[in-house]
Amino acid sequence: MDQMTLVRDRSDALYEPVSRLMTREDWERNFADDIRAILRLKRERNAVILAHNYQTPEIFHCISDIRGDSLALAREAQNLDQQVIVMAGVHFMAETAKLMNPQKTVLIPDSMAGCSLAESITATNVRAFKAAYPGVPVVTYVNSSVAVKAETDICCTSGNAKKVVESLGVPRVIMIPDEFLAKNIQNETGIEMLTWPGHCEVHERFTPLEIRQYRRMHPGVVVLAHPECPPEVVAEADYAGSTAGMMEFVAVKQPQKVLLVTECSMSDNLAALNPAVEFVRPCNLCPHMKRITLASIRRALETMEEEVTIPDELFAPARRAVERMLAV
Ligand code: 13P
Ligand code: SF4
Repeated sequence: MDQMTLVRDRSDALYEPVSRLMTREDWERNFADDIRAILRLKRERNAVILAHNYQTPEIFHCISDIRGDSLALAREAQNLDQQVIVMAGVHFMAETAKLMNPQKTVLIPDSMAGCSLAESITATNVRAFKAAYPGVPVVTYVNSSVAVKAETDICCTSGNAKKVVESLGVPRVIMIPDEFLAKNIQNETGIEMLTWPGHCEVHERFTPLEIRQYRRMHPGVVVLAHPECPPEVVAEADYAGSTAGMMEFVAVKQPQKVLLVTECSMSDNLAALNPAVEFVRPCNLCPHMKRITLASIRRALETMEEEVTIPDELFAPARRAVERMLAV
C-alpha cells in the first residue's frame, strides 16, 4: 500500500463516526487538519484526551480516548498510563483529574471554561454554612472548585448523588451548590436538604411549559431530563439522570423519538451512535464547554499550556472528598 492510500484509509476511519452528522467535504474543510495534528501530538506527548459528553462531535468522536459524564471521567482519571492528560471539559473536571494524578501534567485547553455552579460559592460561604449547622454533613457536587471541595465531607455527581446521600444514613444534609439537584434528590430520597442558591445556567432555562409544548408538537416523544433542571421540569420528564444515564437509556430502550432536556451536543453525539432514534432538539448551549475546540486542544498539546495546579494546602482535603465519593 502506498503512502497516499494509507493516509486516506486512516482518515476515512476517522471520519466514519461523524459521517451521519456532516458531509465528508465539511469534515475535510473544517476539522480534518486539526484532528490529524492532534492525533500526532497525542502520540508525541504521550497524552490522553478525556472528553465530557457535552463536547462537540468532532472532539467527542474523533480525538478523545475516554468519554463520559463527570463520574466516569473522575473514575477513569484514576487509571491512566499516559503522562499528560488533556481535559476536554470544564475547569472543575480538569481539577478533579489533577487531584487523582498529582504527578502528571493536566492541561485545560481554555482556562476560562468555568461553570456557573462552581462560581456560585466560595470556601468562605461553605465555612459560614457549616458554622450555622454544626454536625450536618456537607455533600458537594463535583461542579465546584477545589477550595470548596476541601471544606466538604464527601462529593457527588448527578450520577451518584442519591447513593452518596443515602450512604450517610442521616435525616438531613447540606447539599451544595446546586439547589435544583439537591431538591430533586430530596424528592427522591425524602432526606432533608439544606441547599445553596447555585444554578446551572444551561438547565435553569428549561420550563415545564416548554416540555409540554414539545410533547404536543411531538406526540409519543420520550423526555429525558438532567437533574440540574428545576424540579418542576424533572416532574414533566419520563426519566431523569446524568448525561451517562441518558446515554444508556437511549442505547438500551431505543425510543422512536426522544427529547434530551440538557446541553445541545448530547443530542448530536447520541444521534451519531443511535441512527434509529429521532432527536427533538431544544438547543441550550453551555458557553463554558464550548470554549473547548479542536484548535484549543491542538494549541494545548503544542504549547503544553494551560497546566492545572492545585494549592498544596487544599490538595489532601479536596482529594479525600472525591475519594470518599468514589468509594461509595
Ligand atoms: P454529568 O455529570 O451528568 O455529565 O453532568 C455534568 C454537567 O456539567 C452537567 O451540566
Ligand atoms: Fe456548568 Fe451547566 Fe455548563 Fe455543566 S452545563 S458545565 S453545570 S454551566
